[in-house]
Amino acid sequence: MKRIVALVSGRGSNLQAIQARCVEQGWPARVVAVISNRPDAGGLVFAAEQGVYTAVVDHRAYASREAFDAALVEAVDDLAPDLLLLAGFMRILGADFVRRFEGRMLNIHPSLLPAFAGLHTHRRALEAGCKAVGATVHFVTPELDHGPIVMQSVVPVRAGDDEHSLAARVLATEHVIYPQAVRWFVEDKLFVENGCVRQLDGASQLLL
Ligand code: GRF
Repeated sequence: MKRIVALVSGRGSNLQAIQARCVEQGWPARVVAVISNRPDAGGLVFAAEQGVYTAVVDHRAYASREAFDAALVEAVDDLAPDLLLLAGFMRILGADFVRRFEGRMLNIHPSLLPAFAGLHTHRRALEAGCKAVGATVHFVTPELDHGPIVMQSVVPVRAGDDEHSLAARVLATEHVIYPQAVRWFVEDKLFVENGCVRQLDGASQLLL
């Protein structure tokens, strides 16, 4: 049984999608804990309702990024995760933290990486006149929103779209691709070679 720990800062809809698929599909894994940097994160409420252990490492209680990262490492290490998920975790993690969990840490980002790393992805995509947007699940590396790509979804931009309508359609695809990517990880179906991720059964890593 692989142990999954999730880091969240907000509502946790991706966490919910992952937990639901994990239970329904009987993955060889369990979400053992959810940690947030924000005591008011909706994801914590959901986790507690599910009987999943929760913890808060409030970034405001630490004088520096390094001190926060150190406290978070300690909290995560205690839980001995096989897989650490960033699921709407809105703090930038330092290189030491990332290296400690490299190869067993995934993130979801609401753009077709490597385009639009960082914030306000949908607004920036609209301003750039993109004809398609999407989401990316990737292994986490020290560079923000970079790292080997596990799966992507593509969402066409429609006339009249604004950042909210796009965000809603992309989020619906996130709830498909993140659970799929996590399932592959816990079933040992992912192989990284030269920075590229291969699904060992040859399953499509693209949701159109
Ligand atoms: C998602 O759009 C995800 O791509 C981004 O943060 C948002 C988190 O949403 N990293 P939720 O908390 O999972 O609902």
